[in-house]
Amino acid sequence: MQVFISELEIQERVSALGRRISDQYTGSPLTILGVLTGSIVLLADVIRATSIPLRVALIQASSYGGARTESGELTINSALVPDLNGRDVVILDDIFDTGNTMVGLYEAVESFQPASIRSAVLLWKTNRTIVDLKPDYFCFQIPDEFVVGYGLDYNDEFRNLPFIGVPDEEELRAAVDQDVST
Ligand code: IMP
Ligand code: MG
Repeated sequence: MQVFISELEIQERVSALGRRISDQYTGSPLTILGVLTGSIVLLADVIRATSIPLRVALIQASSYGGARTESGELTINSALVPDLNGRDVVILDDIFDTGNTMVGLYEAVESFQPASIRSAVLLWKTNRTIVDLKPDYFCFQIPDEFVVGYGLDYNDEFRNLPFIGVPDEEELRAAVDQDVST
């Protein structure tokens, strides 16, 4: 697979994100809210790059309608979200594409009455964004290119790649063919 962003580049930016969050939330009751499933790799790395007390929680977002950009209807599952009342929340996701998912997440998290909400993502596809919201923190701005790895999937595959890659047509086909061989 063609490497788009290397492990080393990711590590540098993710560490910087952890330091920045630590600086901005020193003395604050911070909860980092990871969005399942795409943020799990980023979440594990970001929290270990922080140096302040914080809590980690999870929320689930999924859109059905296609394996690639998932432009279907957004479903948010808040069943795993703990009490956030009065806490400062950073919603952490893998990618900010159109921004619809993050807007939905804000609405869901607001109902828990936190003190504040900000968003952090690994990737921001700036020229795909159609919402007024922007990510407060991002590691990389990328062009409109379909990428996988480091938590990002195609048809739920490729999340385990340690780098961000651009799959070719053959690799995409192979990921779909997995469905029939199992
Ligand atoms: P949204 O358009 O910002 O709502 O993003 C919707 C979802 O599309 C993201 O959470 C990802 O799961 C998925 N997505 C968007 N772009 C990519 C990509 O390049 N690779 C993998 N998943 C993506
Ligand atoms: Mg996805």
